[in-house]
Amino acid sequence: MSSTRPEAGGAAPVSVEEARGLLDAELAAAAGRGGLLPGDVHELKVRWLGKKQGVVTTLLARLKEVPKEEKAAFGAGVNALKQEVEARLDVLEAEASARAAALAEAAKAVDVTLPPRVPPVGRLHPLTVVRRRIEHVFRGLGYEVADGPEIETDWYNFESLNFAPDHPARDSVDTFFIEGGGTGRDALLLRTHTSPVQMRTMEGRRPPIRVLCPGRVYRKDDIDPRHSPVFHQMEGLVVDEGITFAHLRGTLSAFAKSFFGGRAEVRLAPTFFPFVEPGVDCAVSCVFCETGCRICSYSGWIEIMGAGMVHPNVLANAGIDPERYTGFAFGMGIDRIAMLLHGIPDLRLLFENDVRFLDRTWS
Ligand code: PHE
Repeated sequence: MSSTRPEAGGAAPVSVEEARGLLDAELAAAAGRGGLLPGDVHELKVRWLGKKQGVVTTLLARLKEVPKEEKAAFGAGVNALKQEVEARLDVLEAEASARAAALAEAAKAVDVTLPPRVPPVGRLHPLTVVRRRIEHVFRGLGYEVADGPEIETDWYNFESLNFAPDHPARDSVDTFFIEGGGTGRDALLLRTHTSPVQMRTMEGRRPPIRVLCPGRVYRKDDIDPRHSPVFHQMEGLVVDEGITFAHLRGTLSAFAKSFFGGRAEVRLAPTFFPFVEPGVDCAVSCVFCETGCRICSYSGWIEIMGAGMVHPNVLANAGIDPERYTGFAFGMGIDRIAMLLHGIPDLRLLFENDVRFLDRTWS
């Protein structure tokens, strides 16, 4: 709102008539500008009725200069003017506050014709989507999903799984031990795989067991595009009477076909893990190419997991008779599978929570 203050330099009116003329002019000018608000009316009040410099006050101060016989008329004139100013400004003030109230009300009003603001919709993280897809396949094969602690004891993470205390196989995983967390079997550490969940499951019940163990695991790896000290695993375990290597092979093959598509084949190659015997590395035929591509390093095969027949010592450690029962186990990296499926070039993208990366629909 523009100021209602009169132009600077105007001389103070010396007569009531002059003052009334000025009042008319100023109020007409203010009305012409329109839309007076309470602050503007307040300025007018100060200018006209202010105790020190107000026009009316200044005029009244002239009373002593007015000849004696005119004093009464002058005084009455100033008083009448004062009442008139007060009355007119009261009217303006009432209008101004009504206007201010209407403006405040309008500011609060909701325009129901505006298009709605759509809040950003969250999406499932690609790791969640891949984990659920893997779980879906194995649930169809009769597996249940089990959970376990991320802080484990040496016993569950290593020793019960046939890693003897000084066995060099322990060096294959650099481990975060927890300071002051005990020693020997009781030493506390961040689990390096989800195999301890399998151990805990076997302890708690008798075969038949078919269990899937997803979860976060930790290894003392430096961060680079393919490594992270935190990543995710999906392990599985089957224990029952009469379980053979053929069951393992058939299961992995069924998983590969269901997860990667009907053309996928699996290839098993011998390797060593302390908790299985024999142990294998499992690769699936590359589903991204016919003749070799960067994803399969032009070999036609992509390694996706370790597996094997559960070592008799592991069964015995869980109180399961290895003469009566056999089993198989497998384990894969969820992160790695997500990267393969979606062509994600850098593992770190999965952990940095950059919405530019996450804000798409992962399948
Ligand atoms: N626990 C193994 C790992 O962390 C994976 C695995 C599980 C291998 C089961 C064989 C059998 O690498």
